[in-house]
Amino acid sequence: CSCLDHYCAGIFFFLPNICRQGVSQCFGISTWIHGTIDKHHHSPTSMFHCQDYTFTVYKHSCCWFLGPFYHLVRLFHPEYVRPLLMSKSVGQSLLISNGEEWSRRRRLLTPAFHFDILKNYVAKFNSSANTMHDKWCRLVAEGQTTLEMFDHITLMTLDSLLKCAFSYNSNCQESTSEYVSAIVKLSDLIIDRRQNILHHWDWFYWKTEQGKQFKQALSIVHRFTREVVQKRRALINQQRETEAQSNRTKTPQRKKDFVDIILLSEDEDGQGLSDEEIQAEANTFMFAGHDTTASAICWTLYNLARHSHYQEKCRQEVMDVTQEQDGHEIEWEDLSNLPFTTMCIRESLRLHSPVQAVTRRYTQDMALPEGRTVPQGAICLVSIYGTHHNPAVWTDPHEFNPLRFDPTNAQSRASHAFIPFSSGPRNCIGQKFALAELRVVVALTLLRFRLTPGTNPELGSSSGGVRRLPQLVLRAEGGLWLQLEPLNPPNVKEPLDE
Ligand code: HEM
Repeated sequence: CSCLDHYCAGIFFFLPNICRQGVSQCFGISTWIHGTIDKHHHSPTSMFHCQDYTFTVYKHSCCWFLGPFYHLVRLFHPEYVRPLLMSKSVGQSLLISNGEEWSRRRRLLTPAFHFDILKNYVAKFNSSANTMHDKWCRLVAEGQTTLEMFDHITLMTLDSLLKCAFSYNSNCQESTSEYVSAIVKLSDLIIDRRQNILHHWDWFYWKTEQGKQFKQALSIVHRFTREVVQKRRALINQQRETEAQSNRTKTPQRKKDFVDIILLSEDEDGQGLSDEEIQAEANTFMFAGHDTTASAICWTLYNLARHSHYQEKCRQEVMDVTQEQDGHEIEWEDLSNLPFTTMCIRESLRLHSPVQAVTRRYTQDMALPEGRTVPQGAICLVSIYGTHHNPAVWTDPHEFNPLRFDPTNAQSRASHAFIPFSSGPRNCIGQKFALAELRVVVALTLLRFRLTPGTNPELGSSSGGVRRLPQLVLRAEGGLWLQLEPLNPPNVKEPLDE
């Protein structure tokens, strides 16, 4: 299937389903590298058509072979995905550490995402969204009624994540910040590197201009987190000493951010994380958290722009909820009172999942339904896109239909049919954070703007026919353009007649 060549150095052979004896038995069939990198024009859209073809024919799984060296088991059905995602025998995950080390860190990080902590972040989501909306109002007043969503929303999610993680007001939506530019640069360089096979070789990459830029951006990011962590550790120690010396009960506490929680958390043996471990975790949050949430917000707004009746229904719901507060803020308590908006967000996460797949390598043979086995050591690619678009699982999978997520339909949905945050022990630790931010930003946007599909001024193509661009997260080819019509504050109450 030539459209996959861009992603992999050679030709894949599809085999109908996983061999009953295991993948390795089938391996002899393909024994040579074809070497067709970039022979065919890269087209993400044909890549998706190709995937649709695969799971229409093979229903739950297939194997891809890349010459003699590399084979991959690709799975896209809940029954097949479930045993793999729920297993504890994961050898490698791409995002962070493995085994015992991962398990300890995960336990220490979990309190940072507790509801009591997330509550404090809602005000920060509001303030970052307000900054973005003020900017949109200014741009619209200047005549720019159509805007590219990823540019704006990525800066907004970075802004809010920096406030939540480090209590750092970067002001990055209004002016450039060295740290934020470095994060954006690193994301771009990672995508570039993936597309150039020679750059996969470390020794070569560090000698290239991109490799040097990567190291430079990385050192800016590391310096920033190191300084934040060290200063905070010093502040917490100082506070403890003052409290001990003055023999007082605790001094009034400021609201805690991620760094505070992680610095204070300890395992059963009273051991916390070292400064280096905390820095690594903080960096992971920044990378795992900002692009993914931005992609989810952009695609939700896009889907609502294309379906004006659903947009109107969400807006009405948000107006009802915020009526008491004059529509200025979304509060923590409001989030559970936005059921239809939440259904639209979930349907958007299904249709345009920010993360397209997760990969795993298992430390033991993994049993799958119908007597099939994934042998130890094989790389498994759990396709989130495939599971979310598999016609054996979803009726009209390409339709945006939020009613699928009506709580009354939950019973009929197979477990693991909807996995935007993956599932099992290594699922997304930030999913509640992301869902809270999504609801705040979508609700405030609908309250202030009417959205319609826009046109990319350079290409002149309508956003109605936007194409998916799978990068680190799902983006749109040529950007995602929406037209904004500012709404008068919809629920400012009329003064009462005396
Ligand atoms: C809509 C937004 C998001 C989506 C769709 C998403 C999706 C995912 C997925 C699919 C994984 C599993 C990756 C794998 O197993 O290889 C994951 C892991 C992770 N995510 Fe998210 N994520 C989102 C937001 C966030 C946020 C806001 C944070 C932090 C603030 C975050 C932090 C993490 C971390 C630390 C992991 C690794 C967990 C582990 O291995 O224990 N994510 N995410």
